Amino acid sequence: MSATRIRVLVPGKINQRVIDRLAERFEVVRIESADPVPVSAQMQDVRAIAVSGRVPAALMDALPQLEIIANFGVGYDGVEVGHAAAKGITVSNTPDVLTEEVADTAIGLLLNTLRQLPQAEQWLRRGRWSREGAFPLSPLSLRGRTVGLYGLGRIGLAIAKRLEAFGVSIAYHTRSPREGLAYAYHPTLAGLAAAVDTLVVIVPGTEVTQRTVNDEVLSALGSNGVLINVGRGSTVDEPALIKALRTGVIAGAGLDVFENEPQVPEALMALPNVSLLPHVASASVATRNAMADLVADNIAAWFETGKALTPVPETPFTRRGA
Ligand code: DGY
Repeated sequence: MSATRIRVLVPGKINQRVIDRLAERFEVVRIESADPVPVSAQMQDVRAIAVSGRVPAALMDALPQLEIIANFGVGYDGVEVGHAAAKGITVSNTPDVLTEEVADTAIGLLLNTLRQLPQAEQWLRRGRWSREGAFPLSPLSLRGRTVGLYGLGRIGLAIAKRLEAFGVSIAYHTRSPREGLAYAYHPTLAGLAAAVDTLVVIVPGTEVTQRTVNDEVLSALGSNGVLINVGRGSTVDEPALIKALRTGVIAGAGLDVFENEPQVPEALMALPNVSLLPHVASASVATRNAMADLVADNIAAWFETGKALTPVPETPFTRRGA
């Protein structure tokens, strides 16, 4: 079967390489956004979606021939995956190709937060070094810390491996302990927070993880505590975090993700004890190219072989008739 005429919908913005790769074999239809759901005759034979953002249930319902949603990103919280699964629609994501890049960024963000390296660079760039002298000593350091990982999937493990080389103690919390690891396991998040002084969040954004880093967890982390989030903003209760940072309940935070991106609360930006990044953990040209290729390859594989390359666990489907 020739795949050249299969129609692929791309709602919203996406890496240009996804479009270029898809256009080699498919008819690509672009719409500004998934909201409101588009109504047009063109939608009737859309069989795939490539997306970096949201795919609400209503969009799936408006596309009677939809078979696969290829998500640009390992986290697929923008896609209503339960609805896709119920309708027999496959969802794929982009695991593995970004693991090392995100882990690298997590370490960079941790060091920036503790050692205030972005602020030190601004000190130099603004001429303050020559005018005023040395940048003030950083109150915090990685030395002697115990780091707790909230989440120990592929990226969590890659972060832990890097942390081993830094000579810090490592502990973790997941739903159940992972076999064959020397890191201390904690069955509750609050228990992990109480046992460590540095908490790295690398869980997916789901209903189960939503706002689980709350008042109780931040208090347990304590006044020397540092929170790093490279997972999803929805996992952290942002107002509780701002309060904890303001009042010294914890010492600092490094955040690459936020509850309502790209909006970042002014109150957070005004704080001196935070390091903030605009969701760039995987954002190098090489890694984003690899993610783009995997999006296009998932759609191509689905129509050629009847199987996505990297389907998410909720939709382990094969194509009907394949
Ligand atoms: C992901 O893949 O989910 C990342 O957050 C995108 O950078």
